Amino acid sequence: MDALRDFTAELDTDIHSDDPGGDRDFPLMPVGQAVDMGQAPDGTPLLDPRVLHSREFFRNPYPYYRIMRDHYPCFHDKLHNTYYVTRYEDVWRCYFDDEGFNTIPKGSSSGVLGNTQLELSGVEHRRRRNLYGQHLVGRSLDLRVPSIQRLARQMIDDWDDMLDSGYVFDDGRKRIVELGMAFANEFPVRVVCEVLGFPNEARKQFFYWYNSMMSGLGGSALQKQGLEARQSLEDYVQEIVEERRRKPSYLKDEDGNVIGKDIITKLCETRVDGDYLSTEEITSNIALVVAAGGETTRGAIVNMWYLLLQHPEQFAAVCADTENWNRAFHETLRNSSPIGGQPRHNSHDLEMHGVHVPAGSLMQMVDFSANHDDRVFKDPEKFDIFRPDLYSGKLLRSGYSKEGRCSHMAFGVGPHLCPGAWISHQEAVEGSRILQQRLKNVRIVEDRMAKDIDGKSLAPIGIVRVPALWLEFDRP
Ligand code: HEM
Repeated sequence: MDALRDFTAELDTDIHSDDPGGDRDFPLMPVGQAVDMGQAPDGTPLLDPRVLHSREFFRNPYPYYRIMRDHYPCFHDKLHNTYYVTRYEDVWRCYFDDEGFNTIPKGSSSGVLGNTQLELSGVEHRRRRNLYGQHLVGRSLDLRVPSIQRLARQMIDDWDDMLDSGYVFDDGRKRIVELGMAFANEFPVRVVCEVLGFPNEARKQFFYWYNSMMSGLGGSALQKQGLEARQSLEDYVQEIVEERRRKPSYLKDEDGNVIGKDIITKLCETRVDGDYLSTEEITSNIALVVAAGGETTRGAIVNMWYLLLQHPEQFAAVCADTENWNRAFHETLRNSSPIGGQPRHNSHDLEMHGVHVPAGSLMQMVDFSANHDDRVFKDPEKFDIFRPDLYSGKLLRSGYSKEGRCSHMAFGVGPHLCPGAWISHQEAVEGSRILQQRLKNVRIVEDRMAKDIDGKSLAPIGIVRVPALWLEFDRP
């Protein structure tokens, strides 16, 4: 997805690296303080757009977003000819107006993912989304929760076989795991693989397709590998589609009772204007669902554990009452979302906060900044699963903003609101409940983690998802 490339392309950014990550090297500041870039004659702080691509920004973005929200709510980065929309209210309004702010052309995912709904707007988008989106929610998915729990248990059981992998160690009475490689990377892909109805034996291959397609997004040097993986996925899907067209396949609950057809079977039965969907269309949908739901959910799980374990009283609260995992999930997505925002193009010339934006400009809706807007969330940099101003109920396409509570913006709002929000919520919450039961006396292995500029405290998440999270707990 574009947002993934635009804001977190430097996933593995090492804050100690010598690469300045931009044309100008900015000093690394204590978290929460911005580099002083001078002032306009009226006292307005100046903002050098090169900071947006600096190492400093990747680790410590929020003071710069605050300058934007307070002084340049529609910031024109003339260096990259991009307009950044940073206030919650504005991002909200633009997301709902999909005629005024359309998703076309995004371009960067198309070669690899194919022709997906992510890049459609208006009627075409609605039609496609209704066809596909309905399969990602609803009763049959509610019934999948036990399978999600089973898959989580299986992944943890597999750790005994991973002792030589470099990601799981036994150290005396302790076990050490890297949560990403040992759990969060593959778990969401396994869940989606099962819900789609891929046979078990394809699971490993599925993970390879996923990794290759993700690396190939955004016209990167690995695009060729991504395109090859997509072709290989399409060849495989073709076989399954032919099979499913002959013989539908069903999802079953843990007791073997049928709970509905799998998603591929449903897509095979779907008709548009009397025609069945083509294999290409079905593959694009599968590729999108897999690409959109893997790295994002991984980021949510790992960021959530990183934040909770740094706030032991809040971790104790989720252990004491596992309902609190729901709050922890939403507060993580508000505080440190794995997705930074979404690109849009304005269909008409417009004025926003006194800035003229010519039709067809690239406008970045900055979800990271909207989620930290103190017009909506008090003390926004603070991680607090009990914050009273955050809505953490059922996700609504209309968003939620009343009675002093608002939804976070990590899933977007409006016509493109993430249709995978429910599954990712269940994966992160159910997966974490099981991890919590199995990881006794868990804590972060600080020696193995990246540090901040003081060389002692743990590196902030900033806008790069935690690349690796080393945990230590009592050996089972
Ligand atoms: C924490 C995890 C996730 C986050 C933060 C997230 C975030 C988002 C966001 C912000 C969008 C809106 C794009 C836009 O406005 O242009 C989106 C769209 C989408 N997401 Fe997710 N997502 C997550 C997990 C998932 C999962 C698990 C799936 C599927 C199983 C999924 C499938 C999709 C699809 C198909 C779209 C396109 C919807 C459309 O354009 O109508 N996502 N996601």
